[in-house]
Amino acid sequence: MSPGEGRTVTTGRVPESWYGSDTSKAHPARVYDYWLGGKDHFAADRVVAERAAVNAPEVTMACRENRAFLGRAARMLAEDGARQFLDIGTGFPTMGNSDEAVHSVDPEARVVCVDNDPVVLAHSRALLSRRGSGSTTVLAGDLREPERILDDPALHAVIDFSRPVVVLMVAVLHFLRDEDDPAGVIARFHDAMAPGSHLIVSHATYDYNIKVLNNSRVWNDATSPFIPRSRTQIAELLAGFELLDPGLVDVAHWRPDGNRPLPPMHLNIYGAVARKA
Ligand SMILES: C[S@@+](CC[C@H](N)C(=O)[O-])C[C@H]1O[C@@H](n2cnc3c(N)ncnc32)[C@H](O)[C@@H]1O
Repeated sequence: MSPGEGRTVTTGRVPESWYGSDTSKAHPARVYDYWLGGKDHFAADRVVAERAAVNAPEVTMACRENRAFLGRAARMLAEDGARQFLDIGTGFPTMGNSDEAVHSVDPEARVVCVDNDPVVLAHSRALLSRRGSGSTTVLAGDLREPERILDDPALHAVIDFSRPVVVLMVAVLHFLRDEDDPAGVIARFHDAMAPGSHLIVSHATYDYNIKVLNNSRVWNDATSPFIPRSRTQIAELLAGFELLDPGLVDVAHWRPDGNRPLPPMHLNIYGAVARKA
């Protein structure tokens, strides 16, 4: 198969039966899917998505630019030779996800997708089995429990932690409360990663739109909290890593490819690629 062939992912709608009764609360993956223009969302998800957009009208553009950032960063590292990727908080496998970006460079590169949403997991597994993708593995895991992810034998069957790995935590850390110790979680992965490994990260902020803080209340009844942070707080989470140029910046400004105009406003989501020396 030539690079990228057969890899373009366009999801069909998730069968409603997969959700059981679990449609009354908004889920991050489905709210994000709504903002990305997908089909896998329900009334509760749309209520949160639309209320959040009142406070932060830039959110739709932010989600699209976040996905584009994820793709640019993952492709860049794959083009630089990375062949092992661990994507935590992977979301629905819609267009431009990590699996698609990495396999456009090398279809044999190993990608492990971890999420704590059972419907995301079921959807991803069904899609991958339809595509016959042998180099992508889907695992259940919660970022708040790094040991359980890192001790999972199914992870070690695919990823060799004695060699460099790319860990992605893209648009997921703002679903961790301070009590969940996001800095400690990242430090635990840092410890497990071989020198020369990378972390791709993005995180919502309120730095340029204070009303984004009000969206924590909007997410109150959802399955996850929403905790935007300042640039200083996000930078502190990355202690121990070296940031590649241009550092921690608006995702649209992280090595833009020049094929799309830069958004006219700040998107309230920072992105960075960090390296373990
Ligand atoms: C906004 S989506 C981001 C998807 C993808 N990373 C991207 O940026 O395009 C957030 C994803 O993180 C997952 N998630 C939220 N909290 C999580 C946690 N504690 N552990 C693992 N996954 C989590 C959600 O289920 C959802 O699929």
